[in-house]
Amino acid sequence: ENMREDSLNEETKCLISSLPSHKDFLGKQLYNYQGCWYYPNTLQGVLNFQKGFKPQETDIILASFPKSGTTWLKALTIALFERFNNTSSSNHPLQSDNPHGLVPFLEMSLYHKTSTPDLTKFSSSPRLFSTHMPFHTLQAPFKDDSSRCKIVYVCRNVKDVLVSQWYFRCAYLGKEVEDKSILESSFESLCSGVGYFGPFWENVLSYWRGSLEDPQHVLFMRYEEIKSEPSAQVKRLAEFLGCPFTEEEHGSLDKILELCSLRSLSSMEINKTGKTSNNLNHSSFFRKGEVGDSKNHLTPEMETKIDMIIEEKYKGSGFKY
Ligand code: A3P
Repeated sequence: ENMREDSLNEETKCLISSLPSHKDFLGKQLYNYQGCWYYPNTLQGVLNFQKGFKPQETDIILASFPKSGTTWLKALTIALFERFNNTSSSNHPLQSDNPHGLVPFLEMSLYHKTSTPDLTKFSSSPRLFSTHMPFHTLQAPFKDDSSRCKIVYVCRNVKDVLVSQWYFRCAYLGKEVEDKSILESSFESLCSGVGYFGPFWENVLSYWRGSLEDPQHVLFMRYEEIKSEPSAQVKRLAEFLGCPFTEEEHGSLDKILELCSLRSLSSMEINKTGKTSNNLNHSSFFRKGEVGDSKNHLTPEMETKIDMIIEEKYKGSGFKY
């Protein structure tokens, strides 16, 4: 769906003819806009967003590189705000829709086809949106300081992202994971930086710098830390989002962690059977959710090459992972 060119408007067709382009491993054309690679339809969504999005100070945007824990961050954020509504577990929003339906992507969903989407279903505050765009591209509509909203970025170890991407791609291409060709092409694309939403390191560093410059508005989280100290990290998230846990709220944090666990989310009916608006099975967003699973799949040579590239790219940034 995102790879097709048929919904591009004339302005975009003209723009893309001047952009650097490259074929991906399936032979689909990628275009580089503001340092990031997109398929044409996603680029149209980015442009629509930059043209039409009117931020509100109370908005919250959840950002990530694909396969870094986006679904988990969405579920946790929904659950943090939902706790004030006293919903019973059977009519919780997470039971009726997948986190990606509840927190839609700006460029791949809301603004995919129009610069003036109907946002009336976001009548209650805060409005929750998500994105894979790099920070500087997302910032375009935020020129005015009063409209600065809160952005939460989740980052994950690049090797685990690669393995997660491989499984995800096999699922939607209908390929067996035993077919290592998808792993190899995903590896090449990750290393070269030329891939959907790549380069990985530019995405991460853009938000890392954003969080250093404006910690009030940009929170940088790590998947591995949410796994190893979930309570502390979700408290940190709640404080940042302006809805901290109080002394009286006995057990509500534990309930949220349990509700949003991979086991709980993936066993919900909606996530076993549903599909997203762009036809991905909800179930494909839930797999193992482990730290270091890449060790089981990447060769030592692949690991060394990725380590070297990432070290080189992060050099001088002060960023460690
Ligand atoms: P694995 O493929 O390593 O299992 P994204 O949400 O950005 O698409 O990332 C998907 C990754 O997050 C997958 O990693 C998936 O299993 C993991 N994930 C999804 N829901 C999760 C949850 N509730 N807790 C922990 N990890 C989760």
